[in-house]
Formats: sequence, structure tokens, C-alpha cells
Amino acid sequence: MISSHPSSQQPVAEPGTGEVRIGMPVARVDGRLKVTGQALYSAEYAAPDLAYGVVVNSTIARGRIVRLDTAAARAVPGVLDVLSHENRPKVRSMDLFYKDMTAPGGSPFKPFLDAEVHYSAQPVALVVAETFEAARAAARLVAIEYEEQPHETNPVANLSRAHEPSRLKAGYSPPPKPRGDADAAWDAAPVKIDATFYSGVEHHNPMEMHASTVIYGEDGHLTIYDKSQGSQNCRWLVSRVFGLSKDQVTVRNPFVGGAFGSGLRPQYNLLLATMAALHLKRSVRVVLTRQQQFTFGHRPETWQRVKLAADADGTLRAVVHEAIAETSRFEDYVEVVVNWSGQLYQCDNVRLKYQLVPLDQYTPIDMRAPGAAHGVYALEIAMDELAYALHMDPLALRLKNYTEHDASKDLPYSTKELRACYEKAAERFGWSQRPPAPRSMRRGRELVGWGMATGIWDAMQMFARARAVLHADGRLVVGSAATDIGTGTYTAMSLLAADALGLPLEQVSFMLGDSDLPVAPIEGGSSHMATIGSAVAGACEKIQRELWQLARKVQGAGFEGARFSEVEFAGGAIRLRMRPEVALPYTQLLARAGRSEIDVKYLLLPNVLKQKKYIRAVHSAVFCEVCVDEELGTVRVTRVVSAVATGRIISARTARSQITGGVVWGISQALHEETHTDHALGRFMNHNLAEYHVAANADIPDIDVIFVHEDDRIVSRIGAKGVGEIGIVGTAAAVANAIFHATGKRLRSTPMTPDKVM
Ligand code: MOS
Repeated sequence: MISSHPSSQQPVAEPGTGEVRIGMPVARVDGRLKVTGQALYSAEYAAPDLAYGVVVNSTIARGRIVRLDTAAARAVPGVLDVLSHENRPKVRSMDLFYKDMTAPGGSPFKPFLDAEVHYSAQPVALVVAETFEAARAAARLVAIEYEEQPHETNPVANLSRAHEPSRLKAGYSPPPKPRGDADAAWDAAPVKIDATFYSGVEHHNPMEMHASTVIYGEDGHLTIYDKSQGSQNCRWLVSRVFGLSKDQVTVRNPFVGGAFGSGLRPQYNLLLATMAALHLKRSVRVVLTRQQQFTFGHRPETWQRVKLAADADGTLRAVVHEAIAETSRFEDYVEVVVNWSGQLYQCDNVRLKYQLVPLDQYTPIDMRAPGAAHGVYALEIAMDELAYALHMDPLALRLKNYTEHDASKDLPYSTKELRACYEKAAERFGWSQRPPAPRSMRRGRELVGWGMATGIWDAMQMFARARAVLHADGRLVVGSAATDIGTGTYTAMSLLAADALGLPLEQVSFMLGDSDLPVAPIEGGSSHMATIGSAVAGACEKIQRELWQLARKVQGAGFEGARFSEVEFAGGAIRLRMRPEVALPYTQLLARAGRSEIDVKYLLLPNVLKQKKYIRAVHSAVFCEVCVDEELGTVRVTRVVSAVATGRIISARTARSQITGGVVWGISQALHEETHTDHALGRFMNHNLAEYHVAANADIPDIDVIFVHEDDRIVSRIGAKGVGEIGIVGTAAAVANAIFHATGKRLRSTPMTPDKVM
């Protein structure tokens, strides 16, 4: 399956791109396929026997279905079946296994398990028809009667019910134990602030809707195209739920049109499309609508309190950070909200608390920089408030409390160039020209404000395999069941491999998005570069070593006795570092050896013993300018400078796009995004892009991204850490702090809409 000639669906660099080096800003290798419509997404795969499923969602938030009348729906010409809890196929394992690899602690919701309704817009029926139009028309005719029970969807009204999460998730770090005595230190300190923050619900709104096309093979094999951040996670869940062996199911996601965390868990479209395909023994597609995008996970509504205290010289004396977020009744969705506050600054007295309120709501799900996007937002606004209380520059306050090691774990950072981020971004922004007092800058009718904030996110590495095949024609094909949710995985991995072997980029292709490829984790947590990238580098080094062994056997070529450290790989050839005229092209080497290919596999296991001696994190410094029209309450972000320290940059252009995208979302979070719940109905109301506002082009200014040099060989053998999440962290706080500087009005809740600004 790793052949030397890429198919028309396989991204490959444009001819003539030539040799590339790590860190170069190459164009996306998948760019042409995407902009010409040749890249197929999950809802675009065809099958001759394809049927279409449309999901019916509950209209109540809690209760039971007492009658489900499908007669009218079934009478619509072309309708094949209506599946629900009443007639779903009996698969014993379906009642047992539902935990995907990313599921939070608790008992996952199982669609069509029984008549119970646990949340508004829960999927309760699937209409399957010969055409999408028939299925959609029939879906409206499914008549459902409910026995309603009282529901509770308002976390703020239920703060008293908050409790520590009892059902934890692997990999989640609960808040560390208190250090020092934060409350006593706060009481005793001369300068202090105490602030509460509120962040509304946000929903992922990727361009591509969640969809599954299940192609039912003649032998009953299922080939499933699913919009997902992990093909193998989907295969695992589908095979467990429906009692199929691993080789009866292939899941593919070669192109994903944005996901941001919404594709970390397999969504109900996957399970329902598969259920229908197995039941009808034919291919089935289920595409969720934009409205249904709001039915399977969100960034949780979060209430926070931050208390900070300092000596008169700005030395932090106390940090208290408490957060209460919502979760469902059946799972404890946990994210790291408050821990960053014990990590980012030097402080001897820290108390952190994180609690959940279970509601009659679907379980929240990770959304770009889960936890940090809320927690660091609150901390960084509080730091700004403290700076004003101290009559100190906000940047100077951060530098005053800068720390080189993590006090909660008493460990050094593997690398931490946050200080350089502050310096470079401040200089580029012109921060030294900032008048300290609020309301001191004006441009026409608008007030102008400058604000800044810090960002932090973990640098993670997981385990993965990669396979690399160097073909006799000199093409290199590398593969791993990784994902590219728009992040640039294809490009970055191709670039890494081309650099390792000194090949023109167009002679290299990277295969991903197929559960049959070597094992890879979900694309999440900004861990893909450090993980898959290291596996790719490891596989390429194995190819290098095989080429070296072959070269040493070629008599008279000049490689006899050469050590591996004495050779290099460039121009499609192995050559002696000190005598580059001694060279053998790979094509010649393989031909002489009578080999059609060199085929290697590599297993990347993180060096946990080494890694656990360090704190591994990425950092950012975000500076922002806003213009505020006080009469209209409008805020325009006019400039952003974000300097990030994220390890070695492998693919400069796609990495920059990741940070830019994060900043865009930070601005959107700050000013636009909120899902409103009607608590009487227990239902999200503005579930469409007309009423759920996301930043548009006109809302986004020039974004200046600075990569501060880091090379972290503890996080990964390639020196990379990860750029996915950090762009959003701190951005909303920088906007809020700039609004305060412009207007003197302190806003502590997102989004900062005109009603709050006026
Ligand atoms: Mo990210 S929220 O791990 O897709």
C-alpha cells in the first residue's frame, strides 16, 4: 500500500520545489488538491449502493420517549428504514463497549440505547432513504411523544452543587496540592486583587461538517470515511461497539476541513451510519448539519475566581485560582484550567481548585487549548489588574515574577524562552512607548489601548510508528496513521523526510489518514509534530543507515571504512562529508544491489525517564492594540504581535498559519463567540453561523508572529515541541487588557460585546 507512485489523491509538492531544509517556509503540499476540489472529504465519497441517513434529535432536555411513530416517515417514497432505540439491531457488545480512546471518565452516551433522553438535541432516530432529500423530508415526519422531566442546564445557578471531579481521565493532571498558605499570604499582603470571571459556552465551527460515509464491501468489509482527528480511534470504537474484528473495518480521514477538538471523539454520525450500513447491508452516509454541530460537545461554560497579592515592589505573595465548569450527568469532562496559575510565575503561596457541575447537557469536549484558553485568560487579566494596583507596568510585573523552574513540581523546564518572547514582541510592538494611564490614547473618535498577556501550553509526546520506503526510482514514501486537520501534517512530514534524505520535496510523499497505516495517536494537544515527526525522523535515519551499509559494499566508490558520522545525504545521493565528490545516487545504489526498495519501520517511544525530569511547555507573549468606540461599544483589534517559543520550527509557513489561526480564534473568543442557552428549554439557541458569531476577515488585523529560537531535544529528537494550541492562549486576555487601557473599564467575561463595553 506504500507504492512509489502517488495516486491523484496523494498530496505531493509541486514539481520544481526542489531540495528543502527543515525550517523553510514551503507551500502546503496538499494546497493544490484542496483548492481545486480534488481533495475529497468524508461526505464526498461515492458508492453505487449509497443510502442517506438523516438524524432526528430530541426536542426536550430530559425525560423519556413514550411513543415514536414512524409510519408517516416510512410512507415517504424512497425511505428504507427508520432506526431508533425501538428497533436498533441487537449487538450484544453495543451495550458494553463505548469508550473511545479519548473518552472522559464516566459512562459514555450510547445513541439509541433506550428511551431515555439525557440532553436536548440528543439523537433519537435515523431515517435512511435512497436519497438525502427523501431522508430529510421523512425525518421531519417522525412523530415523537415525550414524558418530560425537569432539567437543569444553568451552571451559574448551580455553583453550590460543584464538586471535585470523581471520574478522571488518563493523562489529566488534577490541581496540585496547595503550597505555602495562600489565604494567609493574601490577607497579609499590601496590594491585592480579587476578581471573578465568566466565560460562556463556545462551539467548534469547522468548515467541514461532521460526516461518515460507510462503504459496505461485498465481503462485508467496512471502509469508513469519517471526519475525525484519529482514524485508528474510530476503527477501535466501531469494531468494539459492533463486535467486528479489526480487519473488517478500515477508517480513513485523508482530508479534514478543520476540527479543533470536535473530532477527537468519534461522533454519533459514525456510530449511526455504521449501524445502518450493517443493518441494511449497504453503504450509508450520514452528514450532520451546522445545527447538529452544536449537539456533541462544546467548550464548557466556566466560572472562575482569581485572587492575587503582591508586595509593593511587585513580588507575588499569593495566587488563588478557583474554577467551576459544567459537565454532563454521565461523564466528567475535565480539562486543566487552574494548574497553569501555579506554574507560570514564581510564587510561594498557591492554592488551586477545580470543580464541576453536572448538568442535563451533553458532555463538553476539548476545544483548541482546552482549559488554558479559559484559565490563562483569567490569570492574565488578574495579573493586569494587579499591575495597575501596583502602579507597575504589566510586562514589568511578569518579568519581576519570572521563573526558570516549575515551583509546583520543583523541576526545571526542558527549554523556556518566554523571556525572549516578551522582549522581542514588546520591541516589535513598541510597548516602551505605552503611556501607563488608561484613556490616554485617542485616534479620532476612538480610544486606543495597548494590552499584553502571557500564554502557556504543554509540550507532549506520545508513541507512534512510521514506515518509510525508498523506491528504486528514488521516490521516498513515508506513512503513519496520523491526521492533518488542516495543521500542515502532510507538508511538515514530507519536509522532514526530504531533509533527512536530501531529496527534492516533490520526490517525497507522506501518507496519513488511514487506520491501516502504522499506529499513530489522535491529532490533539499539539503533540503531532513531536510524536509523528520523531517517528518519521527515526524511520528516515534507518533508511540512511541502510544506504550507508550498501555504499560501503560498493568497491572503489570511496565509502569503504567510512563511518556513519562521515557521510551525508544530499542531492539524492549519499556522499562523504569531507569529500563531496565521493557520492553515489540512491538510484544507482539500489540498482547495483538489485533492490527494488528499502523498506523500514520505526517505533517511537517517548524517553519517559529523561522527560520526567523536566517540565515541558511552550510559551507565548501576546501584545495587542484595540480601538474602542465608546458610544457604540464596538472594539476593533488593530494590531497583534505574538511571539512564541515552541521548540524547533520544522515547517515555517504552516507553523505560522497555526499561530495566526489561534490568534484569530482568540480575538473571536474575546469579542464574538458565545452559544446562548434557553434554560427554560435547556437548549442551545443560536446554533448557526448567522447567530453564533465568529470573527470575519474584517475583524482581523495584521498578525505578526515571531518564532523565538528553541531546540528541545528532551521533548523530541527533532527539537520540535508543537504549535497547535498556543496561538489562542492569552490572546483574549490581551484584548481585555487593551480594552481596559483604552477605556478604564475592566471586562471579566467573554465575549466582550458592545453591551458590556458601553
Ligand atoms: Mo486539540 S483541542 O487537542 O484538537
